[in-house]
Amino acid sequence: VGDMETLIVYASKYGCSENCANLLAKELGGKVELYNLKGKQDIDLNKYDTIIIGGSIYVGKIQKTVTEFYINNLATLLKKSIGLYICGMQTEESAAALERNFPPELVKAAIVKEYFGGEFNFEKMNFIEKMVVKKVSKITSTTSFIKNDNINNFAAAVKLG
Ligand SMILES: Cc1cc2nc3c(=O)[nH]c(=O)nc-3n(C[C@H](O)[C@H](O)[C@H](O)COP(=O)(O)O)c2cc1C
Repeated sequence: VGDMETLIVYASKYGCSENCANLLAKELGGKVELYNLKGKQDIDLNKYDTIIIGGSIYVGKIQKTVTEFYINNLATLLKKSIGLYICGMQTEESAAALERNFPPELVKAAIVKEYFGGEFNFEKMNFIEKMVVKKVSKITSTTSFIKNDNINNFAAAVKLG
């Protein structure tokens, strides 16, 4: 019987969800590993007791790499302690977005699920993306609101198990 190991699996286009993964890892302390789905290398999920999955919303949907990850690993994931988080700029929609973007059995099994806030990083967006964001959100410069309280509460819930 070893220490409990935790894996945070995430996808992040501009770094918000990645930031949140790092903040969460720090808050959790202990044995926490981070896994960026962008790398796409294989990972053995067996050694982890707790798996946290996070991503961000783009036009109503979580990144495809996140969807692929939970589809490919659903049976294994359902045997673990699961936490789910989501980032996005439409605050009031976010809880619904989380429930819509993960499979119902995983949502039901999760010990914790939370919205972590969002960021518009204009420095990293291309011309088209900036145009879309300005038009849809009326936000015209880099804006960040990471919900640290939600991250801390999430970590506390994971620690309780
Ligand atoms: C083109 C585009 C579309 C977006 N669509 C949504 C959306 O439908 N709902 C939402 O809440 N946020 C939306 N966002 C905001 C992102 O979810 C937010 O910027 C998030 O923090 C990005 O996280 P990431 O850097 O980890 O990818 C959108 C952002 C961009 C650039």
